[in-house]
Amino acid sequence: MKHENRSLGLVNYHSIQYFSRDLKSCVEWHKKTFGFEEIAQSSENWEKRHGMRSVVLRGAGSIGWIITEPIEKNSTAGRYLSTHPDGVAFLNFKVKNLKKTVEFLADKKAAFLYEIENHKSLNDGYWYETAIATALDDVGFRFIEESQYDQFAPGFKWINQEKNKHNSFGLDLGIDHVTCNGRSMHAITEFYRHCLGFEQYWGIEFHTNHHKPDLGTGSGLESIVMWDKESGIKFATNQPLAPYFNNSQIQIYVEDNRGSGVQHIAFGTKNIIDTVSKIRNKGAVFLEASDKYYEQLPARMSAMKLDKIKEPFNIIKENNILLDGSNSKYLLQIFMKEQSVQLQKKEAGPFFYEIIQREGDESFGEGNFKALFDSIEKQQVSENRQEMRERVDSLC
Ligand SMILES: [Fe+2]
Repeated sequence: MKHENRSLGLVNYHSIQYFSRDLKSCVEWHKKTFGFEEIAQSSENWEKRHGMRSVVLRGAGSIGWIITEPIEKNSTAGRYLSTHPDGVAFLNFKVKNLKKTVEFLADKKAAFLYEIENHKSLNDGYWYETAIATALDDVGFRFIEESQYDQFAPGFKWINQEKNKHNSFGLDLGIDHVTCNGRSMHAITEFYRHCLGFEQYWGIEFHTNHHKPDLGTGSGLESIVMWDKESGIKFATNQPLAPYFNNSQIQIYVEDNRGSGVQHIAFGTKNIIDTVSKIRNKGAVFLEASDKYYEQLPARMSAMKLDKIKEPFNIIKENNILLDGSNSKYLLQIFMKEQSVQLQKKEAGPFFYEIIQREGDESFGEGNFKALFDSIEKQQVSENRQEMRERVDSLC
């Protein structure tokens, strides 16, 4: 008889695990750029057993940012990095009751990566976890139930256990959403629906050809946002859109990442101007919206029935922040350049970060979608990718 467990029981993100070829540079970049602080590191035993070493940072909203580099080629990180550039390899979630989560996943025939691990700490704390394979190639999802466990995670040791410390860059709201790319989004969104019980939240398609049909070239994407109603966790998924499928920035990401994967993670802030100014002062680079975007913004605002925003328009423009909204509600967002640009090395990969401030608007910035699209395209064109894509297109 089937059990009655109809919920995955997600609470929030516990941590993000990022695989990098260069632990030190990756850790230093995240500390400098976002004000993340080192809170834990892997123990010697864990490093020996797993053939990897990790440093944990207190990330946005105190979500753990686990940066891991391989010691052994045959480790989980080593195998991931033998195929992919650096990037997000695991999304780790806190759950209410791991036994129930596992029942839910087993019922959906989810592919478990390992059996449930049980760990106890001396202070009567416990830690239960398991993980599943996903439709995102080598990205895994881990599920954790823990209470009073005396370390950040089994096999880790605290460096700085100070709890509830504010992020000095205003990144206290945690993860707004995670966005992934694939050549077909349906394998991914149906995986979210079937295995995780997520529902559709939002959808969009965009193609430069729709705006400039006489251009003779162009590129496009489609996107679906799925969410877990219980926790509010949202995943966006993009796929390329024909015509000129191979020109799409989504196809280019999949090629650069050598498979589908996590394209970006968005951090929420209450004051995007302050957060972005601080990040920019640390030398990080953002995508630039065109002057045309800001020329058109007043007209767009009246079309959006958005009379006023509390932030000064000139500072929004100076900081290259994007605005979208409707009926007096709005959001401000900005996209950072890819990690390969931030760290000035190709193997740092096509993953990037977004910063978002929501003023009542819970959408995904449909108008800004086009701006992001144009901006990324500009960057890819500047890297002569467009020309290469067109050559590939002509072979198809
Ligand atoms: Fe986003």
